[in-house]
Amino acid sequence: MSRGYFITGTDTGIGKTWVAAALIRALVRRGESVVGMKPVASGDVGRSRDAEQLIRASNVEADYDDINPYLFAEPVSPHLAARQAQTPVELALIAERYRRLAQQADVVIVEGVGGWLAPLTETRSVQALALKLGLPVILVVGMRLGCLNHALLAEQAIRQSGARLVAWVANCIDPDMLRLEENIATLERGMAAPLLATVDGGDAEPDFALERLG
Ligand SMILES: Nc1ncnc2c1ncn2[C@@H]1O[C@H](COP(=O)(O)OP(=O)(O)O)[C@@H](O)[C@H]1O
Ligand SMILES: [Mg+2]
Repeated sequence: MSRGYFITGTDTGIGKTWVAAALIRALVRRGESVVGMKPVASGDVGRSRDAEQLIRASNVEADYDDINPYLFAEPVSPHLAARQAQTPVELALIAERYRRLAQQADVVIVEGVGGWLAPLTETRSVQALALKLGLPVILVVGMRLGCLNHALLAEQAIRQSGARLVAWVANCIDPDMLRLEENIATLERGMAAPLLATVDGGDAEPDFALERLG
């Protein structure tokens, strides 16, 4: 039986793709067959740069259209880009593509878009997609001033939605952040899920506490 995880974040541009790719590599090193999925992307033409990064990390080759069913050129929120392109995002189609990937790998790592409540259509958000796929959620926290509020808001929203937050990741995107360790410790106390990894920009692969994924 394959399993999957849904990667969301405190914001856009805080390292969801960076962390998802590192997590895929960690699972591959452990001997699992892993494929990444970027169901909805915007701001690229031809292929999504996020999907390409996930593909490079993965050790399962799958159809690009399964990995990235929706790609919009306009670098705006997907619900606006989709309206412009007259291509509504259908969660059922994404779920079908997810099932195809799940048949080909032990683990599917799905990267959301924006944050937890980012709209995918006029009425459905990233949250609805995560619930539709029924996946446990990993929250990437971009460590910078203001992230405590964003992380705790996201955690509360995930919990209230009924989705299961299984872990969070401290992604150290601001080399000048003051009191980094104390901020991480604050979140370790405040989050209702364990810390999976502290990730920086160095060459060394981050150490994921994979046993905490349950
Ligand atoms: N831990 C990190 N160290 C250094 N650079 C990072 C780190 N995490 C992300 N980045 C860089 O920050 C930018 C945004 O990261 P990305 O993973 O694309 O964010 P998101 O997927 O949340 O939009 C990218 O240029 C990425 O290479
Ligand atoms: Mg991304």
